[in-house]
Amino acid sequence: MERTYLMIKPDGVQRNLIGEVVSRFEKKGFTLVGAKLMTVTKDLAETHYAEHKERPFFGELVDFITSGPVFAMVWEGENVISTARTMMGATNPAEAAPGTIRGDYGVQVAMNVIHGSDSPESAKREIGIFFEDAELNNYEKVVNKWV
Ligand code: PPS
Repeated sequence: MERTYLMIKPDGVQRNLIGEVVSRFEKKGFTLVGAKLMTVTKDLAETHYAEHKERPFFGELVDFITSGPVFAMVWEGENVISTARTMMGATNPAEAAPGTIRGDYGVQVAMNVIHGSDSPESAKREIGIFFEDAELNNYEKVVNKWV
């Protein structure tokens, strides 16, 4: 069973999209194992986005993600890493298909509502930097036998 790190960015929190986004993943059949509303520090933002350090928009990315609370989540399920990315849609909301989270709610690439891990390696790393083990819940849903 895979786990992924998903984060509703400050624009999604400000626009009251937490419930809508959580609902999509719940209805899909994934299991929420950890979640918290938190403010990302500059240090944490720089660690999280370290792979983009050389990109021209790095400063903007760090400023944005630290600009207001985010809703950090860990979700579990079969192929949850790639399926969540499909449900999020393309990074640039202008290119994201209708029906995806960014396609339905995003306008600009800098404010694209949600972040999701792009591989098993980044999922493990990102879960580890945002959550303590004790914050993650190991449980099985009875409904899982139908999905
Ligand atoms: S991806 O999904 O990692 O392949 O996307 P990528 O294009 O590499 O972008 C990485 C993150 O940077 C954000 N981004 C930007 N922020 C500000 N300005 C510009 N121009 C810009 N272009 C990309 C993008 O939303 C990605 O954020 P995360 O949180 O990883 O989704």
